[in-house]
Amino acid sequence: MTTKSPTHNRWSSNFSFVLAATAAAVGLGNIWKFPYIMGENGGGAFVLVYLIFIFLIGVPVLMAEVLIGRRGRASPGYAVRKLAKESKVNSAWQVTGWLGMFAGFMILSFYAVIAGWALSYMVKAAQGTFFTGISEAEIGNVFGSMVSNANELVLFTTIMIAGTVFVVGKGFKSGLERAVTFLMPMLLLLLILIAVYAAKIGDFGTAAQFIFKPDFANLSSQGILIALGHSFFTLSLASGVMIIYGAYVPRETSIVRTSIWIAIADTIVAVIAGLAIFPIVFGFGLQPGEGPGLIFQTLPIAFSAMPAPSLVATVFFLMLVLAAFTSAISMIEATVAFIEEKFKTSRWTAAIVSGALLWTVSLGTVFSMSGAAWAQIDWVIFGKELPTIFSAIDHIASNILLPIGGLLAALFTGWIMKKHYTQDELNTSPLAYFIWQVCVRYLAPVAIIIIFLQLLGLI
Ligand code: PHE
Ligand code: NA
Repeated sequence: MTTKSPTHNRWSSNFSFVLAATAAAVGLGNIWKFPYIMGENGGGAFVLVYLIFIFLIGVPVLMAEVLIGRRGRASPGYAVRKLAKESKVNSAWQVTGWLGMFAGFMILSFYAVIAGWALSYMVKAAQGTFFTGISEAEIGNVFGSMVSNANELVLFTTIMIAGTVFVVGKGFKSGLERAVTFLMPMLLLLLILIAVYAAKIGDFGTAAQFIFKPDFANLSSQGILIALGHSFFTLSLASGVMIIYGAYVPRETSIVRTSIWIAIADTIVAVIAGLAIFPIVFGFGLQPGEGPGLIFQTLPIAFSAMPAPSLVATVFFLMLVLAAFTSAISMIEATVAFIEEKFKTSRWTAAIVSGALLWTVSLGTVFSMSGAAWAQIDWVIFGKELPTIFSAIDHIASNILLPIGGLLAALFTGWIMKKHYTQDELNTSPLAYFIWQVCVRYLAPVAIIIIFLQLLGLI
């Protein structure tokens, strides 16, 4: 039995919150997902719209969520309920928190599987044969046989989930803060190294054009929705994460400043990942719209051109696994804290129960990939084809639930909470507060609603 509230914890410093939140933000979203969705959605215009969403919607919503967490000091649903009470408004607003927790959980169910891919590649790289003198066709085969092998996927997914449960069960902070201090710089350095090699062996010019030259003819309204969803996904918004991490933020931390840093760090990693991958795509005649396998089919080509390919590849996939791992930990944290609070269980029990649930749901993604018939569902939602359970969970959670959750968080802090509470939490200059308010009151809600209306064919 725990007697203290699970949210009595505090980050040990301002800096350690930035580190942990950056570690939650930077992950597969930056290195795996961003390049492949950019490739599928035509490049430059998608990237530009994504960047606009990050800074005009993502950052203000990030501030809103950290603020909710710090003021509510509870797991997301309870935190919003508390603040609704404090501002004397309908407690139905707590759905903001519950929805986020659910979305985070669903995202983790496929995130753990992709983290398992990275782990499997790390093992393959460490065995020393994979990246030396391998042809592009062979690289494709290695990827294809991994994703069609359900046993392999289950094995590596299980390892990732077990690791997450273990760290979260032991207590959310031990080791995490320290690990991140070297992980992030190391990951960034490796990405830069890969980008340099990619430029050398691939087609940097075409890649740079593809990423930075916006051609709006290539961007559909589905593409805009995906850019919006990803701006939330990549900053870990609307998934309970930043609310629960906010709950551990000390009073004296500047929410405004730290949020901006988190977004900048996350964006830098994503852009460099793009620069590491697309020169190879164009230089070796691969398809930018290859899909979720993109980095697993391009990076090995760069590795094989380097001296000591197996070593570099092993270290890179290790970093990728760790980056995914710190995000996975953050995603499960809200559910675990909730189970602890609600059922008064120990942290271990809460972690193990969450892990078992998660593992079960993750099978939907595993069997989507391995081709089991029951996981091929062929849904169509708002004009978007969703062939598998994996694609449905990803699309519904990332591109529909996250924007709705972000909309609710923006409305709640912009219109519902009493102004002096938000002012007190943000504790910033009048100008900065004003800009934030314009974003959460008008810009973010209007943009999100327009994107949905357009998708529904209503405008
Ligand atoms: N932001 C993480 C990434 O980019 C993914 C994530 C989404 C983490 C939602 C937590 C919650 O990889
Ligand atoms: Na991210």
